[in-house]
This record gives sequence, structure tokens and C-alpha cells, in this order.
Amino acid sequence: MGISKSRVFMKKKLLAQQLENCIGSDELALLPRSWYLIGDAIIVRWKSGVTVWKLIGEALLTIYPRARYVLLDYGIYGNFREPKRELIASRCAITSFETIHRENGCLFKINPMRIMFSAGNLHERQLLNGICDDEVVIDMFAGIGYFTVPIAVHSKPKKILAIELNAQSYQYLKQNIKLNRIEPRVVALHGDCSKLTPTNVADRVIMGYLSSEKYLLSGITALTSGGTLHYHEAVPEVLYPQRPIKRIKRAALESGCEIKSIGCRRVKKYSPGVLHSCFDVTIR
Ligand SMILES: C[S@@+](CC[C@H](N)C(=O)[O-])C[C@H]1O[C@@H](n2cnc3c(N)ncnc32)[C@H](O)[C@@H]1O
Repeated sequence: MGISKSRVFMKKKLLAQQLENCIGSDELALLPRSWYLIGDAIIVRWKSGVTVWKLIGEALLTIYPRARYVLLDYGIYGNFREPKRELIASRCAITSFETIHRENGCLFKINPMRIMFSAGNLHERQLLNGICDDEVVIDMFAGIGYFTVPIAVHSKPKKILAIELNAQSYQYLKQNIKLNRIEPRVVALHGDCSKLTPTNVADRVIMGYLSSEKYLLSGITALTSGGTLHYHEAVPEVLYPQRPIKRIKRAALESGCEIKSIGCRRVKKYSPGVLHSCFDVTIR
């Protein structure tokens, strides 16, 4: 679910009103169309041609009186999905970038300078609300608890195993489990999910990492009969949905599991011509 066009327009108009007396018409036309908040941080995506980022940052702080600082985002990189970001404005001297983001009745402690939080995945996080009662869930790419926390807050799972490889994200995952009072139902493990995912134990497995094809076999073999896998993949639009389906079927064949159903959906646009897609796979 993206932000509607009219809302994007409203936001841009608000920013333009703040800056119309300070910058020229060329710069006004180039202003970013949207940004988002993580706790008291504002994240604005870098855009080619824009030179007045400091002024944009200061204007955003005026629009959002409760925000503390503004980060310019150059993208998310590497296996750990780490953001490259720069401070462009702040209300006071920054001693720590740490903030607490509230979403969907959950609290997420995070350092947005170092760790990503995808605002565009809110609908995906909400989809699992209340459907995991009595289940054993494995969150193979848990991050700071993007899926684990809302599942444990809004359902009564028997157990959630949350696995995260990045030491920094793992530290926040542990803090977020405490912050949301969801221990002891949640067990956090630090390490590679291809080594730590147990077999034949889970009613539900979440693979929320967009390049996780090579982990599909671990995901599928973790399921018990009748279990469901949520497999996320960044896929060129022209290859949706056939490429991920082919990969899922190949892994199922290798594991000896029979697929009962595969559902798919477009989560959001990931980059030009590329989708963030999700496949819900139930095995017999
Ligand atoms: C970007 S997050 C997922 C984002 C999330 N689904 C959301 O809603 O915003 C993916 C996480 O997988 C972790 N990761 C990557 N490879 C891993 C592996 N082999 N085992 C466990 N975690 C891994 C990364 O460190 C990262 O924290």
C-alpha cells in the first residue's frame, strides 16, 4: 500500500510553502515529493539535482515540531541492508541517533543512521496481526523485530524464533523484545539462518529478506505439514510472478515437500522496474 498521489502532493506543497521565499523556482520544482518519520527522525530520499538539502532539512523540522533531526538517505546496501545516510538538519546537537518508533501498537528502538526500517512494509506487517495464535513461528531475517514484534504483540504464538545475523540489529531485536514485553514467547538467535533454522518444527516461516532465494530450502524444510511460508523477493516486473514461483517449486521438490497452494502479491515498488513481492506458500 503506497501513499496516495494527493497525499504526496499535499506534502510537497507544504514543503514548497516553507521554502518559496528562500529558493529559486528551479529548486522549488525539484523538491522531494515525500519523506517519512522513524520515531523523531525524518528520512528524506536523495534526489539528483537538488542542492539545498540543508534548507530542506530545516523546513521539514518546522513542519514537524516533534522531530529532532533530518537524515538524507542515499539508499540501502549489502547483505545487512544497511542505509547510507547523512545528517542535514537537527533541532539541537545530536549525542545519539537512537529513537523509538511507534507503529501498529508496537515499539521499535532503532538507530536510523545505521539500520533500515521500511515504512512501505507496514501493510505486510499488519497482515500477520492476529493470525498466529498457538503457532510456532520462525522469522529467519528478523532484523530489529519488524515482523516478530507485531506478531507477538497482536497474536498469541506458542513460540517465535527470531534469527538475525547483523550484531547491531540483533542488539536492538533483544531490546525490542523487552520493550514490548514479549519474552519469554520470543527467542532471539544471533547468526546465519541457513545454519540456525531448525527443520520440521514451524507452522509459519517468514523470509522477509528480499534476496533470500538461496535460503528457500531452509525455509521450506523448517515447516511442518500444513505450514505456511511467507517468501519475499525483489523481482523485475517482467519476471513476476513466474521467477519466484519457479524458485519456490524447485526448493519444494528438493526438500521432498508437496505444495498445496501459492498466493502472491505486490508489496511495493522497490526500484525502477523492480517489485517487492511476497509469496504465501502452504505445504501439504
Ligand atoms: C532488511 S531486513 C528485513 C526488513 C523487514 N522485512 C521490513 O519490514 O522492513 C533483513 C535482515 O536480514 C538480515 N540477514 C541477512 N542475511 C541473513 C542471514 N543469512 N541470516 C540471518 N539474518 C540475515 C539482515 O541483517 C537484515 O537485518
